Amino acid sequence: MDMIDPFGRTISYLRVSVTDRCDFRCTYCMAEDMAFLPKKDLLSLEELDRLCTVFIDKGVRRLRLTGGEPLVRKNIMHLVRQLSRHLDSGALEELTLTTNGSQLSRFAAELADCGVKRINVSLDTLDADKFHQITRWGHLDKVMQGIDAAQAAGLKVKLNAVALKDFNDAELPDMMRWAHGRGMDLTVIETMPMGEIEADRTDQYLPLSLLRASLERQFTLSDIPFKTGGPARYVHVAETGGKLGFITPMTHNFCESCNRVRLTCTGTLYMCLGQEDAADLRAPLRASEGNELVADAIDEAIGRKPKGHDFVIDRRTSRPSVSRHMSVTGG
Ligand code: GTP
Ligand code: 5AD
Ligand code: SF4
Repeated sequence: MDMIDPFGRTISYLRVSVTDRCDFRCTYCMAEDMAFLPKKDLLSLEELDRLCTVFIDKGVRRLRLTGGEPLVRKNIMHLVRQLSRHLDSGALEELTLTTNGSQLSRFAAELADCGVKRINVSLDTLDADKFHQITRWGHLDKVMQGIDAAQAAGLKVKLNAVALKDFNDAELPDMMRWAHGRGMDLTVIETMPMGEIEADRTDQYLPLSLLRASLERQFTLSDIPFKTGGPARYVHVAETGGKLGFITPMTHNFCESCNRVRLTCTGTLYMCLGQEDAADLRAPLRASEGNELVADAIDEAIGRKPKGHDFVIDRRTSRPSVSRHMSVTGG
């Protein structure tokens, strides 16, 4: 039985955060002294596999691993390999991941061997000093090596850049030229107010309508119906021949076509990125060897999927709209 929520949306896409840890500390994502979950609270890879399999049995066709940084989870390739059996059987159409790229030079070839066809790499700047500044802990050359390795392994790479006012806005046209020149699409993202961070989101936030207007002074952009099943709206850029995606949760909501739910590494299911409501799947998973209890808990959760998020970025409301950090669900 397909999963259909109260607003008639079919849920066919699962995002799985396999760890809340990350080897970077992006300033819009994490606090400098983030507290991470104790390892004992994590589901085992076998338990994650079991939960994913129940979701696939219930109609999930696309599965994306996220983090934190998914490739820092110990033995992560074991899970990818296990999940790839659902590609072989045809039950799953796509197995993919969103990564910061730091570990890709180690894992790209094996990912490709497991049937992963494309990946999204988060990259906000091409300037090594600025990269270190925004990620606090990251090194750009490692990520560049990772992107090279991914392309060499035949993976299609899409870049994700969070648009940050006075940080990378002036650089984004060059980044787009660079990405398109290397055969990669680029998506730009409006920052979302999730979790307490040191920075003031109103200082970082850039509505993408402004970026689009500024790009249109240099490039010919035409809207295209290209769809990945994600929230981006794409344009074709005549001068580069590439695609540019806009993810605009703050200024142009896409919730009415939402097809996804998010599972964390502790077995918590979030029905919406921008809401606090969640369902515990760990207890029903551990209560019995059969999957009926989990399947019932999933049905109950989908039955209360909200209509959408209500993110607000406003200096007067100093608290984030959602208290958990983006790294709990990986976006
Ligand atoms: P594809 O379109 O399949 O390539 O992936 P994607 O862009 O949906 O996923 P990715 O993990 O690359 O996410 C890019 C950005 O989109 C991140 O900042 C996510 O937080 C954001 N995003 C993804 N899905 C949603 C969603 O359902 N709601 C909101 N508000 N943001 C989302
Ligand atoms: N708002 C928007 N995107 C964010 N990401 C992390 N934190 C935020 C935020 N507050 C992005 C990362 C990555 C994706 C999973 O989410 O840069 O591309
Ligand atoms: Fe890590 Fe991604 Fe958050 Fe940066 S945005 S700290 S890479 S989880």
